Amino acid sequence: MTQTTTPTSAPARAEWTGQFGFIISAIGSAVGLGNIWRFPGVAYENGGGAFLIPYIVALLTAGIPILFLDYAIGHRFRGSAPLALRRLAGKLGEGIGWFQVMICVFIAIYYTAVLAWASSYFVFSFDLKWGEDAAQYFTGEYLQLADAPFTLDFVPAVLVPLILMWIVALVVLGAGVVKGVQRLNMIAIPLLVAGFLVLVVRALFLPGAADGLNALFTPDFAALADPSVWVAAYSQIFFSLSVAFGIMMTYSSYRRRRSNMTAPGLVVAFGNSSFEILAGVGVFATLGFFAHQQGVAVADLEGLKGVGLAFMTFPAIATQMPGGEIFGALFFGALTLAGLTSMISIMEVILAGVMDKFGLTRKRAVYGIGGVLAVISVVLFGTSSGLTALDTIDNWANNIGIVASAVVMTITVLWIRRAGRELSGHLSVLSTFKVGRVWLFCVSVLGPVVLGYMLIVTVIDLVREPFSGYDGGYLLIVGWGSIALMIIGSVVLTLSPWRYNPDRFTPWPALPGAKTTRDPGPAPASHAAPPAAPESEETAR
Ligand code: ALA
Repeated sequence: MTQTTTPTSAPARAEWTGQFGFIISAIGSAVGLGNIWRFPGVAYENGGGAFLIPYIVALLTAGIPILFLDYAIGHRFRGSAPLALRRLAGKLGEGIGWFQVMICVFIAIYYTAVLAWASSYFVFSFDLKWGEDAAQYFTGEYLQLADAPFTLDFVPAVLVPLILMWIVALVVLGAGVVKGVQRLNMIAIPLLVAGFLVLVVRALFLPGAADGLNALFTPDFAALADPSVWVAAYSQIFFSLSVAFGIMMTYSSYRRRRSNMTAPGLVVAFGNSSFEILAGVGVFATLGFFAHQQGVAVADLEGLKGVGLAFMTFPAIATQMPGGEIFGALFFGALTLAGLTSMISIMEVILAGVMDKFGLTRKRAVYGIGGVLAVISVVLFGTSSGLTALDTIDNWANNIGIVASAVVMTITVLWIRRAGRELSGHLSVLSTFKVGRVWLFCVSVLGPVVLGYMLIVTVIDLVREPFSGYDGGYLLIVGWGSIALMIIGSVVLTLSPWRYNPDRFTPWPALPGAKTTRDPGPAPASHAAPPAAPESEETAR
């Protein structure tokens, strides 16, 4: 049951030090594994150069509009996904917020495993430890992959970096939004960009690089008639931009009240896509070199995507390349930094949610909840059965979880709660770049229709054909079971009592179409925003 009165008011919300701190942290979240290992393969498989058309359409019609929606909700209602959506759309909104938190729980658990592998491979690069047969080394010697879908045989070479990655992530998160998250991003993102640029330039000068770029960018316009190519473009944009699973909502809740919302959003969105295209160029120039070395066409290469690309093909290429040690270290260093800053943002969604709801201190949330997730992650992915579970959870969390979350959120916020005018007003009143009818059309009509269609197509495909050829029973338990657990978790968390009354809150600024006070109870100072003037330090600037 929900409490209606509360003994004390919630502590003040953390804030980024300024616009730059926010932008760099949001870019840190967006630029992740999705950019480096997902985008090049997805683009190549879905029409090459022609894929840029659905990709740009998806960015402009859904990625950026829903990014702005996340920003508006998090900033106006100053809360984690469950708190902000609760203030906007009541218990249904809160349930959607918890569903987004649960998506992050599942992603965090496997994402850290990939980070652990990347950090091991960073170290292995210096003596090209994988030897002549990199594919065999990865699944055999390194992961010691078992045939059974679930084992408790821990693999020390994975277990140790996995525990280390969790420790690093939790220490950063425990230090707070500014001293931990923002500081890490301030260091990691310039390093990542500089290191990756060196890698791309080196790749472009390799023999055969032009063949790789031709393979990636030669357009296959016929692919545009295939709906699955469009589905791939929308999924890529969502995962890559970190929208519709709570991250951008949480990050924008840490912005000062008087903040430009849309211009930084455009910087983040175009910055993320530029990095993605840069990654495509770097990866395919390198693959062109690999094909050239073997005397085959790029199209005849295997392992051009995801785990295979990063941990089998790239190490094999590094072995053949003069200076491959440095090339490998740059690639795996970039993967580790990009993944770490995204992983931190995924965890922040979970921590902010439980801190807001249960009134936990940051340290307790980080070491209590974070600690439990770390143990689950270690048990699932520190063992010899990790790869199958990772592949399955990744597919269901992204292609079902995030897309479903976007559809339900847009319908609830725009159609049930009818908050379009209030949110577009919030975005425009504080920003240099104004949004209006086009934005409203994208988030309230185009978004739900396209994403709803995508969801149906994906569900039908997954029911018709076992994903990746895995056992149907296993997919039912691990894939669909993950979605069931996300739903159960969100219902249980929504029904749990709040530590502080979430509804005693007045959004600022007052706007047409907005309810001014959501709970007319006696307003405690820290929860009720001043009606006219914003309270943040930024007011003075
Ligand atoms: N946006 C993050 C990525 O691309 C989650 O990996």
